[in-house]
Amino acid sequence: MKQEKICLVTGASGGIGRAISRELASAGYTVILQGRDLDKLTDIRKELRYNSHIVCGDLTDENARNRILNEAFDYGDIELLVNNAGISSFSDFQDLAKRELVNLMDINLLSPMLFTHEFLKRLSPSKSTNTNKVKATIVNVGSAFGSIGYPGFSAYCASKFGLYGFTESLSRELADSNIRVAYFAPRATHTNINSDIVDEMNRSLGNASDSPEFVAKEFMTLIRSNKARKFVGWPEKFFARFNGVFPEIVDRAISTKLNKIKRFFNKSRTSESVSEISLVEEK
Ligand SMILES: NC(=O)c1ccc[n+]([C@@H]2O[C@H](COP(=O)([O-])OP(=O)(O)OC[C@H]3O[C@@H](n4cnc5c(N)ncnc54)[C@H](OP(=O)(O)O)[C@@H]3O)[C@@H](O)[C@H]2O)c1
Repeated sequence: MKQEKICLVTGASGGIGRAISRELASAGYTVILQGRDLDKLTDIRKELRYNSHIVCGDLTDENARNRILNEAFDYGDIELLVNNAGISSFSDFQDLAKRELVNLMDINLLSPMLFTHEFLKRLSPSKSTNTNKVKATIVNVGSAFGSIGYPGFSAYCASKFGLYGFTESLSRELADSNIRVAYFAPRATHTNINSDIVDEMNRSLGNASDSPEFVAKEFMTLIRSNKARKFVGWPEKFFARFNGVFPEIVDRAISTKLNKIKRFFNKSRTSESVSEISLVEEK
């Protein structure tokens, strides 16, 4: 009898998570959908024709993380974990509230590390150099900004550089085991993570932006390969590597755009104060 393939996708209620869940369901996986919003997840479950389950909760909460994993493993052995949940922030670093900074590092870096830690305990990796014997794959969703520091995204870049470092280390550490660890780095993608101002800035700078459906197809090529990393989109995939070798050249390229980028910080600041005013008015 053919065994059921089960995967767990965090942030499945978001743009990229939903598109990835769709692709995985089409590839025959039973998808365990994780997010915080039950209504959104129920909607996706309907779309996947119930070939899925829901585990709801906040990944920054230790009890929720343990419960999510217990509930997920009750459905059977998980073959694929996609650590995709994340948030972003765009502003002048000094305008970033301390609370926002801590929250961002927690959701984007600490939580996926702690979640993976707990996940591995439930799998007990064993030695195997035979790549056909992979028992489970963990994919961490990073970003092009996990390899290129960009003005206005200091905290986000720090979290994704950290996630990349974590993924690479763990992947190398487990290279002689039956667990595969890989890193997937989209570039700008049309989802709610980007504010209107970030979308406008990308258009104005001529930065390409992908659809979540395209990104999910790229994700599937990583899953079907035995590669340890995949960067999406040209020229970002080149710059991600180039920045590691000749960062001074990338410094100069970005500095020619700095004035323009900073104009969007100011716009962002103004729009935030407008929404704060409207919140006060609503009260
Ligand atoms: N879009 C881009 O331009 C882009 C580019 C490169 C990389 N990425 C990465 O791709 C991943 C997915 O982003 P997206 O673009 O699809 O963003 P999105 O549409 O905003 O979705 C984010 C997802 O993360 C979940 N999430 C956020 N905080 C959470 C928490 N504390 N606990 C549990 N779930 C939480 C959200 O759940 P709720 O529905 O409960 O809020 C949502 O499902 C992120 O890691 C992001 O950094 C995105």
